[in-house]
Amino acid sequence: MADSDNSIYLINNNGKTKVDNVEGFNIKFSGVHNVVEIYCSDEELRKFQNCNIRFRDNGLTVIKPTCYSVSNMDIDIESDSKFILGKNTFSYGFTVACKRNTSCIIGDGSFIGTASKFRTSDAHKLYDKNGVWLNPPADIVIGNHVWIGQECLILKKTVVPDNCVIGARSLLNKEYKTKNALLVGSPAVIKKRNISWEP
Ligand SMILES: CC(C)(COP(=O)(O)OP(=O)(O)OC[C@H]1O[C@@H](n2cnc3c(N)ncnc32)[C@H](O)[C@@H]1OP(=O)(O)O)[C@@H](O)C(=O)NCCC(=O)NCCS
Repeated sequence: MADSDNSIYLINNNGKTKVDNVEGFNIKFSGVHNVVEIYCSDEELRKFQNCNIRFRDNGLTVIKPTCYSVSNMDIDIESDSKFILGKNTFSYGFTVACKRNTSCIIGDGSFIGTASKFRTSDAHKLYDKNGVWLNPPADIVIGNHVWIGQECLILKKTVVPDNCVIGARSLLNKEYKTKNALLVGSPAVIKKRNISWEP
């Protein structure tokens, strides 16, 4: 539910409308200065079901429309963080935890396997013997037309280029640079190059 410090906007042919809640979404604010922008017509909103978004302070979530369906999406946006869901995503359910001034950006046309998880932070701090912080949070960027198999774990720093396929139960934790690659394993490595995939 939006209040004066938190805003939910529905953006479509009727313009930009501030609303209290949106069909298909359950949006909860426990802090202030958060913004949700949902770029959907009423008909496009029906493609989203049981999508939960929770905010702390100064968060942003942007949702683009899909020609498929997105259900059981569970998003945690902690302070100063951002989640962007590209258009034409398909998923039966995934989770995102964005913490400490990070972003999780998912490009257009990506399929996200059930129970996959995106985490921009490890949640706890890891230090070396000199007290240097080893595991700061970092952004996650998924390109366009990426197929993520079931139950993948996508950790901080992950960058996946366009047209890649991620094998089921893979773990990603770095920047991958090759487009059209099949990435599999824990941590994922390139198994095939110059692949393409279709829905
Ligand atoms: C990724 C995938 C599509 C690749 O299929 P494929 O091209 O037929 O792959 P192959 O069976 O030829 O495997 C190629 C290599 O990758 C390995 N591999 C494939 N998938 C893997 C996975 N998920 N984890 C680890 N290794 C995997 C294979 O063992 C093989 O290794 P090798 O060359 O050392 O023997 C498929 O393996 C997969 O994970 N499918 C599940 C997708 C899914 O979750 N769908 C749900 C709807 S989103």
